[in-house]
Amino acid sequence: MDLTNRNENSRYLTFALCKGRLATKTMQLLEQIGITCEEMKDPSSRKLIFVNEELKLKFFLAKGPDVPTYVEYGAADIGVVGRDVILEEQRKLYEVLDLGFGACRMCVCGPKEAKPLLESQELIRVATKYPAIAKDYFYNRKNQTVEIIKLNGSIELAPIVGLSEVIVDIVETGSTLRENGLEVLEEVCPLSARVVVNQVSMRMENERITELLKRLNEVTEKNGR
Ligand code: PRP
Repeated sequence: MDLTNRNENSRYLTFALCKGRLATKTMQLLEQIGITCEEMKDPSSRKLIFVNEELKLKFFLAKGPDVPTYVEYGAADIGVVGRDVILEEQRKLYEVLDLGFGACRMCVCGPKEAKPLLESQELIRVATKYPAIAKDYFYNRKNQTVEIIKLNGSIELAPIVGLSEVIVDIVETGSTLRENGLEVLEEVCPLSARVVVNQVSMRMENERITELLKRLNEVTEKNGR
């Protein structure tokens, strides 16, 4: 069987990728299994959609939180996106593979003085870019009623300027926390880049997609996921 099991009549398989570092890493991984897209390598290009005619593949670049939307509606068959986005967006799709890269943690963070507030069932304010994840964590896992405040970035500011007692945010190296006098108070879950698949595509293009996932899994294991 060739790489994507295509034949004369195959339709295009479409990938939705997150603009930026995640897309670059994904293309590097795909290259290891013989899937390339030269057009995408031009850093000055503003193009959003790329085609590999030979393999009958398309790739487009979207904003991270929109990737699960494209995949749920079938505008893309396959998506690569962080688990944070998958958990937050709660779309109907299959999460099929952990690609290992982009590893980081979703955490409750704040000044260390805020730690007792997490153990006392107090009504505290939680600032976050991820209200669904924060709500699930506090309401369902900790049974603590909190006020969730949605922000769009630089979340670490919130406890420093008095907007909230704690934050729920991504921690990778921990530098942003350290440089702002904050620390990890609790861990919510580990995160990394995941492959997601449209539910209908998984049935209709099962052979091609399964073969692709198998190859991606092999190379990810070889890279030491
Ligand atoms: C993310 C996250 C933290 C930071 C964590 O922010 O929200 O602020 O990275 O990384 P570190 O542990 O390695 O310091 P991002 O840079 O994506 O920008 P944002 O604040 O606009 O969300």
